[in-house]
Amino acid sequence: MQIITVLEHNKCVQRISRRCGFSLTLALAGMNYNAKELAFMKTQYYTATSLDGFIATEDDSLDWLFPLGNVNETSYPAFIDAVGALVMGSATYEWMLRHADKVAAETGSSWPYAQPAWIFSSRELPSIEGANTHFVKGDVRPVHTEMRKAAGSKNIWIMGGGDLAGQFLDVGLLDEIIVHIGSVTLWKGKPLFPRRVTSPPLRLLSVRQVGTGFAELRYEVPRSDTDAT
Ligand SMILES: NC(=O)c1ccc[n+]([C@@H]2O[C@H](COP(=O)([O-])OP(=O)(O)OC[C@H]3O[C@@H](n4cnc5c(N)ncnc54)[C@H](OP(=O)(O)O)[C@@H]3O)[C@@H](O)[C@H]2O)c1
Repeated sequence: MQIITVLEHNKCVQRISRRCGFSLTLALAGMNYNAKELAFMKTQYYTATSLDGFIATEDDSLDWLFPLGNVNETSYPAFIDAVGALVMGSATYEWMLRHADKVAAETGSSWPYAQPAWIFSSRELPSIEGANTHFVKGDVRPVHTEMRKAAGSKNIWIMGGGDLAGQFLDVGLLDEIIVHIGSVTLWKGKPLFPRRVTSPPLRLLSVRQVGTGFAELRYEVPRSDTDAT
C-alpha cells in the first residue's frame, strides 16, 4: 500500500494508479480513495453540439437540440449517476432560469440536479429555490478544489459553455470531453470549445451512434508533459 500525500489533481493520481499494479490509497484534501474509486474522479465536459461546432444559437436557443433524440437513449442517465458536482457559466444558468417552467414540466423540478452546483459570473444572479448553488468568479482552480471535495469519489461535470470548459483545460484540470454531435448545422452560435488543441491531440476513446440524431464521441485530454508519446 502506498500513501501519496501531495498531488496536484486527480489526473496525476489516475496516471500513477495505472502505472502501479497494486492498491493505492490517496490522502487528498483529507479524504482517502482506493484504486477503484480513482477510476472515476474525472473532470468531464459533457455536452451536445451541432455538426458545425455550436452548443447554442447566438441568442442562446436550444430548440434545435431536443428534437434530435431521447435523452434516455444516450449515455446521460449513467453519466449523471456518476456526477458528484457540476459547474456552469452564467449564460447556461440563465437558460435554466428562463426555462424553469419547461424544465419543471419535464423533470418535476425547475432545478433537476441533486448535486451541488457552481455558477461562474461576475454579476449577481438570482438563486433557484431548492438548488444547492454556489456563485463564484475568477480563477477556476480554487473552485475545482472545492468541487473535488464536494464530489468525493464521483466526477465533476462541466456543463458549459465552451470557454468555461477551456478555462479548466488551460490549467490542466480537464480530463475528458464527451460530446454528442447533433445532425444539424447552425452556421453561427456559441462555440463548443474555443481553444486550439493540436499537440498532443485529444485521444478518441469511443464512438457511439444514438439513432439518426447523434453521434457520441468520448475523448481523453492528454497531458502535454508526460502523455505526448
Ligand atoms: N448544447 C448543450 O448541450 C449545452 C450545454 C450547456 C449549455 N448550453 C448552452 O450554451 C450556451 C453557453 O453560453 P456561453 O458560451 O456564453 O457560456 P457560459 O459559460 O454558459 O456563460 C459565459 C459567461 O459566464 C461568465 N463567466 C465565465 N467564466 C467566468 C469566470 N471565470 N469568472 C466570472 N464569470 C465567468 C461570464 O459572464 P458574466 O460575468 O457576465 O456573468 C461569461 O460571459 C447557453 O445558451 C447554454 O444554455 C448548451
